[in-house]
Amino acid sequence: MLKIIKYPDPFLRRTAKKVTVFDAELKKIVLEMVEAMYQDDGIGLAAPQVGLSHRLLVVGKNDGHSYDVYINPEISFFSKDKSLGEEGCLSLPQIFGLVRRAKKIHVKYQDLAGTVHKVKLSGLEAIVLQHELDHLDGILFIDRAEEITKGQDILTSLKP
Ligand code: CO
Repeated sequence: MLKIIKYPDPFLRRTAKKVTVFDAELKKIVLEMVEAMYQDDGIGLAAPQVGLSHRLLVVGKNDGHSYDVYINPEISFFSKDKSLGEEGCLSLPQIFGLVRRAKKIHVKYQDLAGTVHKVKLSGLEAIVLQHELDHLDGILFIDRAEEITKGQDILTSLKP
């Protein structure tokens, strides 16, 4: 089982490397990430959160077992229309904050076979994808939060 790295581990601040090899090992990593995500009741997980410097993330679905995989994701469009929502993160347990994010985005990514796809996302999926993609650039939701709504004391005690 992959272990989820917790803040303030400096690994979370690194910029992840582009995935160039689409092999069985990558598929195995994805399955392990999905398992770790659902184990901790997450709705998304990025590879740097399990100590892997890959531009790879998984987003869970409502049914609690299926998922979407985004490899080398890039957001090409952010709607001007934003929403302010409460976010948490498996790497920052018990801490929550209000983050403003684009309601709609266009994403270009590769699947496990390396095939390029372009999708338009909105709603929770769009929010989760923006949160997870930030992890690939070493950005955490606390960097963007307009207000910490829960766990400010924990955050203060952890801050490096
Ligand atoms: Co997170």
